[in-house]
Amino acid sequence: MQFLLNQTPITLTEFAPDMTLLEYLRTERVQTGTKEGCASGDCGACTVVIAEPLNGMLHYRSINACITYLGAVENCQVITVEGLSPNRSELHPVQQAMVEQHGSQCGFCTPGFVMSLFALMHQPKQHESTGASIAERINTALGGNLCRCTGYRPIIDAAQQILTHQTDDQFDLNASNTLKQLHAFISDLQPKVPALSDQKFFASPTSINLLLQLLAEHPDARLVAGATDLALETTQQLHFLPKLIYTGNVQELRQIEISEQQITLGAAVTYSEAEAVLIDHFPAINGLLHRLGSLQVRNQGTIGGNIANASPIGDMPPVLLALNATLTLRSVEGVRELPIDQFFVDYRQTALAPGECIESITLPKLSTDSFLRIYKLSKRLDDDISAVCFAIHLNVHNGLIQSARLGLGGMAATPARAHHAEKSLIGKPITPEGIYEAQQALALDFTPLSDVRASANYRLLSAKNLLMRAVLEYTQPRSLEVMHYAHFDG
Ligand SMILES: Cc1cc2nc3c(=O)[nH]c(=O)nc-3n(C[C@H](O)[C@H](O)[C@H](O)COP(=O)(O)OP(=O)(O)OC[C@H]3O[C@@H](n4cnc5c(N)ncnc54)[C@H](O)[C@@H]3O)c2cc1C
Ligand code: FES
Ligand code: FES
Repeated sequence: MQFLLNQTPITLTEFAPDMTLLEYLRTERVQTGTKEGCASGDCGACTVVIAEPLNGMLHYRSINACITYLGAVENCQVITVEGLSPNRSELHPVQQAMVEQHGSQCGFCTPGFVMSLFALMHQPKQHESTGASIAERINTALGGNLCRCTGYRPIIDAAQQILTHQTDDQFDLNASNTLKQLHAFISDLQPKVPALSDQKFFASPTSINLLLQLLAEHPDARLVAGATDLALETTQQLHFLPKLIYTGNVQELRQIEISEQQITLGAAVTYSEAEAVLIDHFPAINGLLHRLGSLQVRNQGTIGGNIANASPIGDMPPVLLALNATLTLRSVEGVRELPIDQFFVDYRQTALAPGECIESITLPKLSTDSFLRIYKLSKRLDDDISAVCFAIHLNVHNGLIQSARLGLGGMAATPARAHHAEKSLIGKPITPEGIYEAQQALALDFTPLSDVRASANYRLLSAKNLLMRAVLEYTQPRSLEVMHYAHFDG
C-alpha cells in the first residue's frame, strides 16, 4: 500500500492487518507527537488529519488514529502534528494561536487539539454552506478532544483567532502537488482480487464483486468500515483480527442516491458524508447526528457499521426503524431486500447470512403529513452513548394519528419498535389525552434493564415522557421552542 505521511511517500509491502495507525506512527515511525490517551476514540489525543482528493480538491477530515487500521489510509495523506511546521524554526498558524492564547498546560492533549483545529481551518467552505455560527463550528470541531488541565476557553480563543485571521498555509500552497501524488497512488490500484495470505491480510477491494468474492473465499474474515466499533476489539479486548476486508474503497458502497421517493445510502458512507442529505430530508435528525460520537467518530463511522454492529444502544437503528428503512443485503448468491425491523434477531445477532454484507440502506422520504421527532438521552451532551434513543414518526391528518412507527434504543436486547404503543396511537387525536393509552402500552412493549447508564424505571418513564414531549411539540411548537432555548441558555 502507498500513502503520504505528511510530505513523505510511504510504500508498505507488509504490515500486520490489525495494526492501528497510531501504533504504526508511534512504534514503527517513532513519531510520538501523536499521543495515546484512551485508545478507544474517546479523548482525541491521537487526532490526525486525513487529506483525500474530492472533486479536484483536497478534502481534510480529523480522525482518531487509535481506532483506525493502518490499511485504511491507503492512497491518503496522513497529516500529523510533526508535519505542521513549515520549517523547523516556525510554528504553524494553529500552533502559534495555541501559544498566543495559552491553550496548553501539561500538553498531553495539545497535539490532538492542534490537529482538530488544523482540520477546522481547512474546512471553511463546507461549513459555510450549513449556516453554522463560528461558535458552533468550533464546538463541533473540538467536541471529541478532552483537556483535563487547561480549561477550554483559551483553546476556543485560539480557534477563534485561527478562523478570524485565516491565511493559506503550506498545505494550501502545496495542494496541487499533493493531489498529483495521491492520484498517482490511486491509478496504481488494479481492480483485482489481491494475492492474499490464507492466514492473515488487510484486503481493500475496490468493487462489491471483489468484496463478495473475498468474503466467500474467507468466511472467517471480518468486514471493516470506519472501525469505530471493530477497532475496540483490537485496542480494548486485545483480540488478534487476522483477516480484515475494508469496505471504504468499494465504490458501490460509497454512493448516495436521491430519487423522487427515497434516499439510498451505501453502507460505507460515513455520517459526515451523509449529514447534509439526511438533515435536508429529515430535519429532525440534525440534533441526533451532532451528538452521535464526536466529529472524529462521524468522519470515520458509517451507518452500515452502526446497523451491522447491532448494538441495542446504537443511535441510527431507532431512526431507521421509525422511518421504515429497507436494507439491501448482498452475497455471491445474490441480493435480497430486508425491512430493517426484521434485521435485529437477538442481542447482537442479525439476519445477515454468512458471506453476506449490507450493501445499502434505503429510506423512504417523509410525506407532507409526516411528523418526525428524535430524542437522545445521555449523561453528557456531546460524545456520549444513549441511555434511551427514541424516534417517533407519525402521520397526522385533521388532528388524528393515521399511522405510527416508534423506534427505540436502550430499551431491550435489540433496537426495536413499540408495536403495542403504535397500535394504540392509530386513530387517536394528537393530544396529551389521546396518547395516554400509548404511553401505558410502552410497558407492554419493553421491560428495560438497569445498568450504569440508567435504571429500568428511568428508561420506561423517559420513553413515556418523550412521547408526550413529541405531542406537545406538535401542538404547541412555539412554547417548547422557548423552553428549549431557556434550558440551554441557563
Ligand atoms: C468514541 C466513540 C463514540 C461513539 N458514539 C456513538 C454514538 O453516540 N452513537 C452510536 O450509535 N454509536 C456510537 N459509537 C459507535 C460507532 O461509532 C458506530 O456504531 C459506528 O456507526 C460504527 O460504524 P463503523 O463504520 O465504524 O463500523 P466498524 O467498526 O467498521 O464495523 C462495525 C461492525 O459492522 C460490521 N460491518 C461494517 N460494515 C458492514 C457491512 N457493509 N456489511 C456487514 N457488516 C458490516 C463489521 O464487521 C463490524 O462487526 C461510538 C464509537 C466511539 C469509538
Ligand atoms: S487515544 Fe483517545 S481517542 Fe485515540
Ligand atoms: S493541557 Fe493538559 S490535558 Fe490538556
